[in-house]
Amino acid sequence: MKRLYKELESYSHKDYYPFHMPGHKRNPFSVDGEFPFDRDITEINGFDNLHHPMGILREAQEEAARIYGACKSFYSVNGSTAAILSAVSAAVSKGGEILMARNCHKSVYHALYLRDLQPTYIYPHADHKLGINGGISPRHVERCLEENPNIEAVLITSPTYDGIVSNVKEIAEIAHSHGVPLIVDEAHGAHFCFSDYFPVSAVDMGADVVIQSLHKTLPAMTQTALLHLCSDRVESGKIRRFMGVYQTSSPSYVLMASIDACMDKLAREGRQMFKEFTGNLDTTRERLQKCRHIRLLDADMMGGTEIYDYDRSKLLFSTVGSSINGSQLHTILREEFHLEMEMEAEYYVLGMATVGDTQEGLERLCNAIEEIDRREAEKASAETWKEAGEPNIPQDSGEYRDAKGAEDSRESKEKTGEGHPYIRMKQMMRIPQALEAPERRYPLEESVGRISSEFAYLYPPGIPILVPGEQITGLFVRNVRRYMEQGLELQGLSDSTNETICVVKE
Ligand SMILES: Cc1ncc(COP(=O)(O)O)c(C=O)c1O
Repeated sequence: MKRLYKELESYSHKDYYPFHMPGHKRNPFSVDGEFPFDRDITEINGFDNLHHPMGILREAQEEAARIYGACKSFYSVNGSTAAILSAVSAAVSKGGEILMARNCHKSVYHALYLRDLQPTYIYPHADHKLGINGGISPRHVERCLEENPNIEAVLITSPTYDGIVSNVKEIAEIAHSHGVPLIVDEAHGAHFCFSDYFPVSAVDMGADVVIQSLHKTLPAMTQTALLHLCSDRVESGKIRRFMGVYQTSSPSYVLMASIDACMDKLAREGRQMFKEFTGNLDTTRERLQKCRHIRLLDADMMGGTEIYDYDRSKLLFSTVGSSINGSQLHTILREEFHLEMEMEAEYYVLGMATVGDTQEGLERLCNAIEEIDRREAEKASAETWKEAGEPNIPQDSGEYRDAKGAEDSRESKEKTGEGHPYIRMKQMMRIPQALEAPERRYPLEESVGRISSEFAYLYPPGIPILVPGEQITGLFVRNVRRYMEQGLELQGLSDSTNETICVVKE
């Protein structure tokens, strides 16, 4: 089969002169800086059209479907975002009802906004001890579907940003027994099918539509993603229509070639590449598991939270039991060791390992974590010595003082919901109604009891902690204050200082 990325390369050496877009005319001297202008073309002869694929792009998408075992696959050059918008729009009629996990990415909420959908939320089982979301309970899905017969589709995120996989098989069977499709946001799981070391992909677990960002976990350029259609419960024609609506009419050939090159490489050498990668990963995990204060999390440490499986390429370092929090660990890794992690949360830092990692990179991470762990051990033994020698000195109530203190403070938080981002909020209005209603700005503390007309997210992971139409609670405000104190990135509110919030005018 002809490969798009090879055809582009060969075309870049030919003497065809472009009297067509793009405006740089493949001339590297038309602007300063280095860009892949030589391969950046438009829909010229021989290069097909993503929105009406008949040739090389049709074959490329068919090959992606073969690799993943889907009925049909669609390229996205606007990430999983466009694919999620399309899947939801195709599966649920305008103004209809959807059952969705409350820990979905903001793109799902944007689909609700654009299509005026009524959500029923399922909250993931939370592990309050570690501050991590668990999986989605199949029983809960069943109950919601029984109670809401007008729901047209179920949507969950699996794996989560942290690598938690839900029981997709059982959830798919339940959804199907109620006559509705299951959409799985597998944005973080495009690598699953290349090694048994990872969980089984939702494509093989009965989901009807599966969305994967290639750029997140595979060697592909940012913005690249795939939408896999795995049954006829969602109409292929509708998916195509909406992929055309939510994506540019001028999809980048550089991005599409990157998808094609990624698929070609993995189809040919994926098994071997992943064998080496998972070997390195396993050695890395074994080494990191020896650290006692900065603990590498594993699925068995998060028991009882509907965790069906766990993606071990996620390197989750818990700071619970150490003297530092997630944000501080991230800062140390960045500033002292020049390691930039994927995400920081209150009690942990997340590093992503992929097939693109080098052994040297993984070793640098091990060395850094071991060094920080050693320092923490020294601090802890100094603390123990001090306590033994000075038994009458009152303890301060510092949240991260020690493992016992952290445990106590977490137990009380578990009762109040404090610290857990996805606290249950009362949904008073649909998203479009709240976003488009007349609004008024209030200082954060004075907004309690009012209906938000804004989103608020911790970014990453970009999951809304407040959705327009939800009633603002005191707990939400306290959580926001704490995130700000800890230096976590809070986004979404129109006031970038997060001191005020817009609410629906009464
Ligand atoms: C769970 C999840 N779904 C969807 C997306 C959107 O993916 P993309 O950036 O490829 O549009 C993200 C992005 O972080 C995500 O974390």
